[in-house]
Amino acid sequence: MQSVLFWSSYFLVILSQFSFLYAAPADSQCPNSNLDITGGRYILSKLYNDGSILRYICPEGFYPHPVKKRECDRGQWFPKVSTRPPVCKKVTCPNPNVLENGVVQPFNKVYSVNDTTTYRCHSDYTFRGSPTRVCQANGKWSGGTPICSRNTDHCPDPGTPPGASRQGHIFNIDDKVTYTCDKGLKLIGSKVRVCQDGGYWSGKEPECYADFTYDTPGEVAEAFSSSLKTTVTLHEESGQAGKKIRLDQGGRLDIYIALDASDSIDEKDFNKAKEVIKKLITKISYYEVSPNYEIIIFATDVTKIVSITDYKRGNATKLVDILTLLDRYKYDDKGQKTGTNIRKAYEAILASISFEKENKAAFNKTQHVIIMFTDGIANMGGNPKPVVEEIKQTIYRGDQKKWEEYLDMYAFGVGSDVEKEKIDEWVTKRENGEKFFFVLPDMNKVGETLDEMIDESTSVSLCGLYKDYYDLEIKSSMRLTYPWLIQIKITHDNGQSNCIGSLVTPRFILTAAHCFRFDDSPERILLSAPNAKDTRSLEVERFEPHPEYNTRKKEAVGISEYYEYDVALIQLKKSVKVSPDLRTICIPCTMETNGALQLSANDATCEKHKEVLLNSDLVKANFITLNSEKSKKTPKQNVQIRQGQQRDECIQQAEKILNINKETAKDMITENFLCTGGPSKNYIDDVTCKGDSGGPTFVEKNRLIQLGIISWGLNDTCLTGGEPAETRDFHTNLFSPKVQDFLKKYLGNETIDTPLHFL
Ligand SMILES: *[C@@H]1O[C@H](CO)[C@@H](O)[C@H](O)[C@H]1NC(C)=O
Ligand SMILES: *[C@@H]1O[C@H](CO)[C@@H](O)[C@H](O)[C@H]1NC(C)=O
Ligand SMILES: *[C@@H]1O[C@H](CO)[C@@H](O)[C@H](O)[C@H]1NC(C)=O
Ligand SMILES: *[C@@H]1O[C@H](CO)[C@@H](O)[C@H](O)[C@H]1NC(C)=O
Ligand SMILES: *[C@@H]1O[C@H](CO)[C@@H](O)[C@H](O)[C@H]1NC(C)=O
Repeated sequence: MQSVLFWSSYFLVILSQFSFLYAAPADSQCPNSNLDITGGRYILSKLYNDGSILRYICPEGFYPHPVKKRECDRGQWFPKVSTRPPVCKKVTCPNPNVLENGVVQPFNKVYSVNDTTTYRCHSDYTFRGSPTRVCQANGKWSGGTPICSRNTDHCPDPGTPPGASRQGHIFNIDDKVTYTCDKGLKLIGSKVRVCQDGGYWSGKEPECYADFTYDTPGEVAEAFSSSLKTTVTLHEESGQAGKKIRLDQGGRLDIYIALDASDSIDEKDFNKAKEVIKKLITKISYYEVSPNYEIIIFATDVTKIVSITDYKRGNATKLVDILTLLDRYKYDDKGQKTGTNIRKAYEAILASISFEKENKAAFNKTQHVIIMFTDGIANMGGNPKPVVEEIKQTIYRGDQKKWEEYLDMYAFGVGSDVEKEKIDEWVTKRENGEKFFFVLPDMNKVGETLDEMIDESTSVSLCGLYKDYYDLEIKSSMRLTYPWLIQIKITHDNGQSNCIGSLVTPRFILTAAHCFRFDDSPERILLSAPNAKDTRSLEVERFEPHPEYNTRKKEAVGISEYYEYDVALIQLKKSVKVSPDLRTICIPCTMETNGALQLSANDATCEKHKEVLLNSDLVKANFITLNSEKSKKTPKQNVQIRQGQQRDECIQQAEKILNINKETAKDMITENFLCTGGPSKNYIDDVTCKGDSGGPTFVEKNRLIQLGIISWGLNDTCLTGGEPAETRDFHTNLFSPKVQDFLKKYLGNETIDTPLHFL
């Protein structure tokens, strides 16, 4: 799917079917001399062999001229450049001297990277937009379009973006303005805008893109995530005009992702593109919705990796399933098919949407999102535009308002060959200026975009997010893996305690009650977040142990130390600012965790959480140790929460080691404790040591969810050198009704900022 002309790519496809008949001519190599570009370099797709593509690469802020690529065809490079050797030219920005009723300084004929311009209105006119703009390396001006207007009409003066000219100077209801871009520039956005009743313009402000103009990952991340967020968040977002809640409870979200795998996207790019899809759906999984997915990979033909109908039938409803299916699909699976049939990809999506429409009563409550990744040259199958129109009509025949509300069509144009104007015709254009079409130079930049979006999601207060997910290259740092980890040092009248806590809301830290003594005062509790960049200490307002925590409660029955309800909360003087390296862990039986588990409103019960999270006799869980010896390898320790017979065995071990009878053991280890430790098959649980107290025992289920608090163990093997397989550890059970009551009283207190919503 090179930029070969329409007919020639067709010819290539035909040829490839018969290519086994011919041996490649031995002399088809192209020369390796006279290929250099002044100020840049080049890369080759197949060395000097026939069909190889040579691509010129310039440093940031420069672009190759007069050609950006050449192709080796029967021993010669085309196009020929003997009269105009290629050079890297400085990127220029579109002409800003289109401001009406104002002055642009300085006046240049051409504006290049780093040139600064300032804008001023004539008297009697009011200024809007950016008074200073700098020409950026991606060929766009910083800031927003400057406008000088009198604001006397129904709609505000829509201005004229740089590089454009505008017809239409009256801005009352139903008046039109029409835009064109200067020669050589492509118009992205709305060519025609109409002044609406509500005092705003239809469509999206146009932008004039040169061949070398790109969006920056930062720009795309901001625009794409704010747009997507409206779709994937259940909560109402206040303010912003034109934004609406498109997904109410009970509504459904169908997401179609189509990925171009034609030849110009080589194997490396293809694998990157798969990573991009993985990142995207992982990111969406952070939100409270559980979308249905269809994932399509296309070249000459279309392959459905996941179909929305299967998805709804329950074949592959888990994130991991999709990721596995994606991993399994290899570059070569698409065969020797070199064409790019974008139309066919949209046809496949249309077929799925039509099928859903016939079969689903809830169709009219379904939000549809289409995300297309392509390098943008449709060289076979014809123009996709009519199919895109048919998709709109299928969503809601004849009612533009409805399809605009229920359909979001995004496109990412990737690479230097993107046909911007064409792709722009396939995306949604909404009056609120939301952007649906993005132009990026390569798949790396798309990846960067999504990374930035992942950071951006920190503004959403979601619990249990961490970055150690799947194989997304961020593994190295513990910092982002345990962002809720809090180190607690308490100075008592005699001695000191070291404990661990977990941030459960921006204002509260959950830990063990036994870390404290009655004479402790808030000033003597020293907190730090070892993984946060901002290491300022967190100031304690107060601490609250569970009211029923009393180590001497069962002295009368021969239990000298008793640790039931070993739970305490520390309230901070000020809420922490949530960031990627400092954020909360989820706790069960809250609406927040219901979202994390991707459970529906019907399943929002504590019992359901227990069923999902404690779903076997051996539940894989983790805790964190800060013990310097043990944490050398990794601070993350592996245990299994033991239930049923496995739990009975725990209690028997307690009888043995503590030399107590069955009754006493049962009295000591009530249902309010979780048990870990001991062998199972060929694996021995890690064990807790002094200093691990108060830390969370957590499971990984989409996000990190805390189920217990480390309380006590049969033997501190770090101290005694005892056998790890022999000891057992006990954790305060967060599902315990009385623990829940305690947590709810403080963490659910609506008058303290960011309370949790308990079920
Ligand atoms: C623009 O300015 C930056 C910062 O001063 C500089 O690093 C860069 O090289 C400049 N770009 C061009 C194309 O001159
Ligand atoms: C889903 O299940 C159906 C019926 O069992 C099967 O035909 C189809 O291939 C499955 N799809 C996937 C993606 O596993
Ligand atoms: C959806 O369709 C049902 C049945 O056809 C109809 O009763 C309902 O009003 C529709 N809802 C919307 C929001 O159009
Ligand atoms: C812990 O294990 C060590 C070594 O086996 C042993 O000497 C000690 O008595 C044990 N402690 C308890 C409380 O059982
Ligand atoms: C909730 O917080 C407010 C403000 O700190 C406090 O006055 C009130 O006592 C709290 N309620 C409970 C049940 O702790």
